[in-house]
Amino acid sequence: MKRLTVPAVRARKGGQPLVMLTAYTVRMAQLLDPHCDILLVGDSLGQVIYGLPSTLPVSLDMMCAHGAAVVRGSYHALVIVDMPFGSYETSPEHAFRSASRVMKETGAAGIKLEGGEAMAETVAFLSRRGIPVMGHVGLTPQAVNVLGGHRVQGRDDATADKVMADARAVADAGAFAVVVEGVVEPIGKAVTEAIACPTIGIGASVACDGQVLVAEDMLGLFERTPRFVKRYADMAAVIDEAATEYARDVRARAFPGEEQIYAPK
Ligand code: KIV
Ligand code: NA
Repeated sequence: MKRLTVPAVRARKGGQPLVMLTAYTVRMAQLLDPHCDILLVGDSLGQVIYGLPSTLPVSLDMMCAHGAAVVRGSYHALVIVDMPFGSYETSPEHAFRSASRVMKETGAAGIKLEGGEAMAETVAFLSRRGIPVMGHVGLTPQAVNVLGGHRVQGRDDATADKVMADARAVADAGAFAVVVEGVVEPIGKAVTEAIACPTIGIGASVACDGQVLVAEDMLGLFERTPRFVKRYADMAAVIDEAATEYARDVRARAFPGEEQIYAPK
């Protein structure tokens, strides 16, 4: 099966909604790949995989290691890797150095970076030099300290105008798609109508050109349940039950059984 391409994703504007989920590991990538148009190696792996308090401590090394694993575990979906905080902001050249390393070390098809007007020049710089960029506007978790928490954006005119201006700026700069996170529903819809490339919503609007969730949230594997998450499975309960049975079997000397032991020659 041939991988979906960046132009094919861009061409989905206003068409069949894009299906995107996060993946950080090879097995999860293998399981999600047949169902997804895009697999995102999100810097949310900081909290989800490493138990960090935010995405800010995530390193380029971490993103490269997990990005490579997800590329190895997928054949169909377009793989996009998040640029971590501190790896791209100071200049377009800085961003190119970091992003080209991600492309070389992971084999991913493109990168995602947070920010709007302030990042437009960087989006254009990378796009014109062979690095497809997915934008990310609205509630941008790397800016949590500026935003004053994980606050829904667009409830007031100032943030509504900012989200719209940011989305326009990165789309006009050449982003092939834009994640719109944590905005009031009318803004998600208005941004989708305003920009030429697909929007991918998370806590945004069903009007977006696609949707993304953190796979662990959707699977019930992570304890956080914000309003925008719909749980499609309760994997935590499945794991708890399996570990309970395993512990009981070991303590009762019921495992290993006949089928799990090696007979002598
Ligand atoms: O890091 C991440 O998982 C993300 C998505 C939720 C959009 O950026
Ligand atoms: Na992210």
